[in-house]
Amino acid sequence: MMREKIRTLIADAIKDRSIEGYTPEFSVVPPENPAHGDYASNIALVLGKMLKKNPMEVAEELMKALEKSICHSEQSEESRALTGSLTDVLDDGGRWNIKVAKPGFLNFFLSDAVLLHELEKIVRNPDALGKSEIGEGKTVMVEYFQLNIAKRPHIGHIRSAIIGDALKRMLLSQGYNAISDTHVGDWGTQFGILLLGYKTAVADLHEREVVHDPFAELEEIYLAENTRVKDDPARRELAKEEFAKLEQGNEENKKLWQWMVEVSMKNLEASAARLGLLPFDEHKGESFYEDRMPPIVALALEKNIAQKKDDGAVVVDLNSEGLDDAVLIKSDGASTYLLRDLATIQYRQNQWHFWKNLYVVDVRQSHHFKQLFRVAELLGFEGVGASEHVSYGFIKTPQGGAISTRGGTGISLENVIDEAVEKARGIIWEKNPDLKNADEVARMVGIGALKYFDLSHHRESDIVFSWERALSFDGNTGPYLQYTYARLKSILRKAQVNKPPPSGRHSERSEESRELAGFLADARNDAISIDPLEHQIIVTLLCFPEVIEDALTIWSPHILAGYLYALAQNANEFYHTHPVLNEPDAEKKNLRLALVVAVAETLARGLSLLGIETPEEM
Ligand code: ARG
Repeated sequence: MMREKIRTLIADAIKDRSIEGYTPEFSVVPPENPAHGDYASNIALVLGKMLKKNPMEVAEELMKALEKSICHSEQSEESRALTGSLTDVLDDGGRWNIKVAKPGFLNFFLSDAVLLHELEKIVRNPDALGKSEIGEGKTVMVEYFQLNIAKRPHIGHIRSAIIGDALKRMLLSQGYNAISDTHVGDWGTQFGILLLGYKTAVADLHEREVVHDPFAELEEIYLAENTRVKDDPARRELAKEEFAKLEQGNEENKKLWQWMVEVSMKNLEASAARLGLLPFDEHKGESFYEDRMPPIVALALEKNIAQKKDDGAVVVDLNSEGLDDAVLIKSDGASTYLLRDLATIQYRQNQWHFWKNLYVVDVRQSHHFKQLFRVAELLGFEGVGASEHVSYGFIKTPQGGAISTRGGTGISLENVIDEAVEKARGIIWEKNPDLKNADEVARMVGIGALKYFDLSHHRESDIVFSWERALSFDGNTGPYLQYTYARLKSILRKAQVNKPPPSGRHSERSEESRELAGFLADARNDAISIDPLEHQIIVTLLCFPEVIEDALTIWSPHILAGYLYALAQNANEFYHTHPVLNEPDAEKKNLRLALVVAVAETLARGLSLLGIETPEEM
């Protein structure tokens, strides 16, 4: 990673200049203005302040030290290994440039030789793109798509699924051991309602269950019973009793419940497959934690963290911290959602020794998670500090209402996906009536548009959804990125360039591509010129791994989305201003083909990390 190389060089150069035992924090970032180089660092400003020296002077000193260390290999073993590829090409006259800029920035300009070398690496081995091992040995739990039994997933659940799945993909690409769990909502007072409703409807249900969709039946039963108990306190008591019986292990209720879970899980799996989510590692429902709850209540009482109220409820008083009463056991003796979550943290920590434990859940539950983490802390649970509520905002329409679909206002996730695919199909029909596999492409574009629209927004902001914007082929959208990729692939098809096979395997179709890599290796010795746009594109390509890393530090896929959009914009400008197939100069043509390969591969890999597929033609 270029940024890491520069960081290491700087760290090396400041070793003798720092105050004993204090490592200064400094940044290395691509500056907004390309005139300020490919990377800029504030190290001289930081050091200047620390040593009470003029930062411009410090910058001048550091620049000399850096140039010396680069050219004379006065580097530590570690930085020599990292910068090996740089020093190779720097001995021949310092094409690697460092400049000092007011008020004390160090600006780094990458040489053509370095850029060609890095481009060659991408073209030779595109499978390694964006991969790193920084997460090795670290387990990250990611909980998302937490559906509830017998309730159809709705549009609100889609953000959790899309964000969680993208995080898992990005984590895996960086070598983390990412474990996904749905934490299915299969326990709680609402099961009393479901059981009561089922028992009321049981006569005709048994017949219909065989011929109809049992999930739809359950949903209907739940909704009907829910209305009944709302208006009738006595009936509400009956529902509570049904759940109490379930918690006490009543055979009949347990069997019914099991069947409901089975039916619902089939539904969950179907929705997840339709959305193209990575397989889940765990479906540990809330019920899984049943046996683990009583010891926690006992511990909380024993440590005097929780109090038993006169009505029997067990409560942790967090009012002095502005977090209200945290209820562990309700007055009717039933366990709470909070208590199940306490058991979950404890279990996950013991089971996985996680490095991070993430909950991708909408912002309405932030109070719940604050209570949860605070109570867990009071109880002395390990892993609280590593647990985070990765919250997200709402999806709204410009009118403020919910997303509308042709099917009406009942916006289930299925409706929304259907609508997206259907709309994409219409657009493709218009743009490219002869497209082969149009249905398959419509599926990728429709679902890709939905996912990208979500992921291109900061997860914490509410998003204003419009079909026109999500499905537009222009601007920061999924279809624009997919279309850019397809265009680049069409150039490569015409030029008969193919991706090299995974190393070791030989295939005739890859000859061209290896020639491209070979050409780039030769080009470093000759003076092949790279123009400013080509330069910018290669530098952007080099930022890819760093962007994934940055996105993961704040669990925000929109950082990756924004990067891919910028890259696609560059690629489109390139496409319009730089002839590739018709370029008469063979060297230039090869360089441009190599760029097209590298950009296309980066777009495809980046989109796949967001869970978005890339059609070869569209
Ligand atoms: N199933 C819950 C709901 O729909 C969300 C679960 C969130 N995860 C958690 N560990 N509390 O509201």
